[in-house]
Amino acid sequence: MTQPDDSAAPTSGASAANGPLGQSPLKHISGDLLESLIDNPFESLILVDADGIVRFMNNSYEKVYARSLENAIGRHIREVAPESLLPEVLETGKVIVGRSRILEDKSQIVVRIPLRKDGKLTGALGKVIYAPPEALQELARKITALEQHLEIFKAEFTHAYSSRYTFDHIIGETAPLRQAKELARQSARTNAAVLILGESGSGKELFAHAIHSSSRRQDHPFVSVNCTTIPNELIESELFGYEAGAFTGSLQKGKKGKFELANKGTIHLDEIGDMPYLTQSKLLRVLQEGEIEKVGGTTPQRVDFRLICTTNRPLEQMVKKGTFRLDLYYRINVIAIPVPALRDIREDIPLMVHHFIRKLQGGEARRVASVSEQALSLLKQYAWPGNVRELKNVIERAIVLCRGDCIDVGDLPTALLQQGAGQDLAADPVPLLKEVVHSAEQQAIVKALQKTGNNKSAAAKMLGIHRTALYQKMVRYGIPT
Ligand SMILES: Nc1ncnc2c1ncn2[C@@H]1O[C@H](COP(=O)(O)OP(=O)(O)O)[C@@H](O)[C@H]1O
Ligand SMILES: [Mg+2]
Repeated sequence: MTQPDDSAAPTSGASAANGPLGQSPLKHISGDLLESLIDNPFESLILVDADGIVRFMNNSYEKVYARSLENAIGRHIREVAPESLLPEVLETGKVIVGRSRILEDKSQIVVRIPLRKDGKLTGALGKVIYAPPEALQELARKITALEQHLEIFKAEFTHAYSSRYTFDHIIGETAPLRQAKELARQSARTNAAVLILGESGSGKELFAHAIHSSSRRQDHPFVSVNCTTIPNELIESELFGYEAGAFTGSLQKGKKGKFELANKGTIHLDEIGDMPYLTQSKLLRVLQEGEIEKVGGTTPQRVDFRLICTTNRPLEQMVKKGTFRLDLYYRINVIAIPVPALRDIREDIPLMVHHFIRKLQGGEARRVASVSEQALSLLKQYAWPGNVRELKNVIERAIVLCRGDCIDVGDLPTALLQQGAGQDLAADPVPLLKEVVHSAEQQAIVKALQKTGNNKSAAAKMLGIHRTALYQKMVRYGIPT
């Protein structure tokens, strides 16, 4: 990913180095023109010398900061604008571009430029540029979106680099699951690319972890990348990294890509079916050459990784449709491991249910110990579109709802109960969402009033609503006020 904007930053630094402020180009400009050039309402300027003393400030800067010109000139920038980044520019000699930390109005961009003469730092220029609001809104929207993605990645980074599961964590004894486990165990002994296929929630990721933890790479990183959650424009820099200053907003030092982080370990490309076509070509090259090339980089770098891909998409069909590269499909599909859907391994459900009952309650504090025959039979009949993930959620919920020590039919979600009723499903009307909400609200209000001894202010506070709103709702639901 290369963005043209950033090329402007070093250039402006360079032209500043040539001294546009002091030399020949200015002699063609009249005093008036020069003044309006410097004092135009679209830019705010502040100039400090190498010691950080303010030497110049234009009128619009004064307006923006509501600080007086006279008071500022000759004083240190820290005194005039304590939050200014100009001292940092003087210290590092580097350009800083970005939003102002103090200006509320987002319709501006701030550039801080070091000024040099004959290679020596002579000062720094701070410049606030105002652009049309629409253009900046768009820019601000993009920045916000990028910032959000950044947060997601940070969280992923901290979690991602170790494998937490082994084959012992994969519960199930039915033939399809045993075969999948056996195939996965064998593949763990090799370095071959593995493609794990299966519906969402069926345990693909668990298998990927287990393969890594029993491979000879187990002491090295397990790096998981979800191809769906990374925006297209960022995926390459995420996978392959980027060199310093490769594009606007890039880190000064550059950044390692996931492949590099996975060196000596395993890289897991989750939802590979969602990888953009162009990135597929780049990935193919990496797999063929065993080398990665960073965005903005020139020298390829060797990396040693083992590849595990997972997907719930029909890759073969995608190849036929031309949305997934055939050559890449061959490369990633050396060993294919199909993970069965839960509805195809129903006999494993009791084992899994008991496993989750144990696992989802902290050891000593275990309260729920078992599940009734009837409930188990419903659990075995259900279609499980969300597979083991859904089963796990259902058990987690049942543990919360269960009043005794045995999960019963009443602790299961309605979807399972209706399913048990078989043909009754069609006849059973779905309640209006409005009704469900009303009934839940009514219950919560009654509970809060009971708890607070009918103290309406306290009850409203407990419910997180205003007292007036509580009153209105009480009237609406016929609760005595
Ligand atoms: N065979 C299994 N035994 C125990 N837990 C499982 C099994 N299969 C899946 N799970 C659990 O179900 C959830 C979903 O599994 P995951 O591997 O994320 O599915 P997928 O990647 O196929 O969407 C996880 O919490 C996982 O630990
Ligand atoms: Mg997954």
